[in-house]
Amino acid sequence: MPNYDAIILGAGAAGLMCAAVAGQRARRVLLVDHADEPGKKIIISGGGRCNFTNVNTAADRYISANPHFAKSALGRYTAADFIALVESYGIAWHEKTLGQLFCDGSAKQIVAMLLDECAKGRVDWSLGRAVTGVAHDGDDFRVSIDGRDVTAPALVIATGGPSIPRMGATGFAYDLARQFGLKVVEPRPALVPLTLGGDETLFRSLSGVAADVVASCGKTAFREAALFTHRGLSGPSILQVSSYWRHGQPVGIDFLPDRDAGWLQDAKRTTPRATLRKTLAGALPDRLAEILAERLGMTGELSALTDKKLAEAERRLSHWNFTPNGSEGYAKAEVTAGGISTADLSSQTMEAKRTKNLYAIGEAVDVTGWLGGYNFQWAWASGWAAGQVL
Ligand code: FDA
Repeated sequence: MPNYDAIILGAGAAGLMCAAVAGQRARRVLLVDHADEPGKKIIISGGGRCNFTNVNTAADRYISANPHFAKSALGRYTAADFIALVESYGIAWHEKTLGQLFCDGSAKQIVAMLLDECAKGRVDWSLGRAVTGVAHDGDDFRVSIDGRDVTAPALVIATGGPSIPRMGATGFAYDLARQFGLKVVEPRPALVPLTLGGDETLFRSLSGVAADVVASCGKTAFREAALFTHRGLSGPSILQVSSYWRHGQPVGIDFLPDRDAGWLQDAKRTTPRATLRKTLAGALPDRLAEILAERLGMTGELSALTDKKLAEAERRLSHWNFTPNGSEGYAKAEVTAGGISTADLSSQTMEAKRTKNLYAIGEAVDVTGWLGGYNFQWAWASGWAAGQVL
């Protein structure tokens, strides 16, 4: 029965980083994945260019039952550290928007880099075979992989969350966590399109139309594009608020974030013969302007509308409330919010507080980043933190 110093379950972003770091510290590491190749989500991420970090990374851009938990790992392995690694491999990158860094070439370069880092650490691999059981005898963890047992004193859970099951994503991390007495914060799809029903179904006819808006849920707001889809709402601003959204809550949209109060009354004075639809079309896509004017019940010329009505239209256009009837679920969710409770883990090392030498890293943990490279940075940082101590 082969023995290792550490067995890492999950060869995604977090597991690859953790294995490379521990391996380069001369630990004998086995990296295990049921998929036949490592880093599949990295390869498809960022439209194939991998938004590998965000220069604005800070713990307040992560959702967790403990908003302070991510600080330690993120502070010790920073975006600058990952950029330095990327540059040491000569991988060209660019900042797209809002601090989001992408490869100029391909996400495959990031996977190749991590594989090379693992090779430097002499990491052993078990790919394409299912983990059929995990046990702990007090000293060692014993992992059964298709009938073959391997043991190590340390085990790392890095199997991510159930987002995008067709890519091999599972809730295995939670089963394992529960097996060892760790609590799991109820997982839910995040960074996910929201669906509309009822009388909001009308907006589905706008499928493909996008606008630069401020979308909000509770006290959290994001200014980015929103996109109408044949099922409801998507686009970066909606994906961002979806991570905060709970069933039954409204999502607010400010369709005209750059207009000052009174702009419709000004428009009435300068272009009295224009309709509201035409006026809105100066700032919004035509089809969206049409539906909004229709929903406001204001189809005539501006001159026929009282200032009070125009003020009311402005108010509704800047606080348009949608009440999504659901989300597109794990099939479309870029990440899973919730997960292994941070209350049961050390924020320094990611080790379970009550089960020595058991670690959890990456998306499996109840730390979920905003859209824009934050989730990979958490995977690198938490993987690095555990890799330092294995
Ligand atoms: P990850 O999911 O990467 O890896 C888990 C690994 O465990 C997988 O290889 C899986 O096969 C394996 N596994 C699962 N169950 C197992 C089992 N039972 N036995 C053995 N192995 C098992 N983030 C970002 O910051 N920038 C971006 O550009 C993007 N883009 C993006 C696009 C798309 C389409 C998706 C779905 C997601 C993103 N993300 C992203 C999110 C990012 O991919 C995600 O947060 C990280 O991959 C999480 O890394 P982990 O290593 O924790 O899990």
